[in-house]
Amino acid sequence: MNDKMNNRMDVTILGIESSCDDTSAAVLKNGVLLSNIIANQKIHEAYGGVVPELASRAHQQNIIPVIHAALKQAGINKEDLSAIAFTRGPGLLGSLLVGTSFAKGFSTALNIPMVEINHLQAHVLAHFIKQNESDANHPSFPFLCLLVSGGNSQIILVRAYNDMEVVGQTIDDAAGEAFDKCAKVMGLPYPGGPVVDRLAKEGNPKAFKLNKPQIPDYNYSFSGLKTSFLYLLRDELKKNPHFIEENKADLCASLQYTIIEILMDKLRKAAKDLKIKEVAVAGGVSANSGLRAAFEEHAQKYHWKIYIPPFAFTTDNAAMVAMSGHFKYLNNDFCPMDAVPFSKVVV
Ligand code: KG4
Repeated sequence: MNDKMNNRMDVTILGIESSCDDTSAAVLKNGVLLSNIIANQKIHEAYGGVVPELASRAHQQNIIPVIHAALKQAGINKEDLSAIAFTRGPGLLGSLLVGTSFAKGFSTALNIPMVEINHLQAHVLAHFIKQNESDANHPSFPFLCLLVSGGNSQIILVRAYNDMEVVGQTIDDAAGEAFDKCAKVMGLPYPGGPVVDRLAKEGNPKAFKLNKPQIPDYNYSFSGLKTSFLYLLRDELKKNPHFIEENKADLCASLQYTIIEILMDKLRKAAKDLKIKEVAVAGGVSANSGLRAAFEEHAQKYHWKIYIPPFAFTTDNAAMVAMSGHFKYLNNDFCPMDAVPFSKVVV
């Protein structure tokens, strides 16, 4: 295994991501993306959220075709791979087991090392994926990364590829959860975030005043906002049963505006206190058009250098796993065969 590792000039990494409801495989050669295949699982839409058992079954069906497609699109043979990087956690245990088991089997068969990847760190390191040889647009250390997804809302101080500190995080719901749950009570389909984003474009963000949390440090809370949104609907529906239908765009715009204000208030505070001007955003919610606009405004007003990922790298994807694997590979940071997935942990 070691001879193979050390003699290679090129570093070619296969990344595997299966932490939630997306089965993804990607190939990266010397940090340049060759392929990134994602199989989404539509089955969960009918349930209004991810059903863990159904997710792991779908991963089992998807994993081989997805990996096959990633290798084919990359134009490489499996023998060209230097290592296999897989998401070890956090995530749904049954889902993670599928990717982890596949990585173990494949690395044994090919006699190449395995690299275990923390899903949250991978979202941050997605900023280093090169779309082509000359792509050099990535943050400089140290930088702050706002990581906002369906399961996490964190402000991370990134000192190096392998040195990250969570300086703030949600004490209850994540920002994506706030989007999704509020969308659900309005009767919008799952996941609600993108739907709220679309409808918000037509609405007035100041139409409804929603609660903003008062919590210390750089931490977040979204459960109060969710409750205040729920109470607003409950009270207004008593007066007018068509309230949601008649005010959908304004409700979405006000909700989105408040979530973004909460996120940016703390990020601005952290950037100011830590004297950092390089600021990135990552995770599913970073696809939000209002949040992207808020980043642009902050760049202008506070002279931040901002990094917003391409849409393909906002939601779960294996390219970010392969990127993290690339850095770990260069560090000879490999993982043993008895590595088991973990469901919960912070960066
Ligand atoms: O990172 P991600 O793909 O998955 C995990 O959380 O594991 O993030 C999914 C979250 C969902 O809550 C979804 O509603 C939200 O990202 N999301 C958005 C948008 N696109 C995805 N939220 C707001 N606006 C969007 N455009």
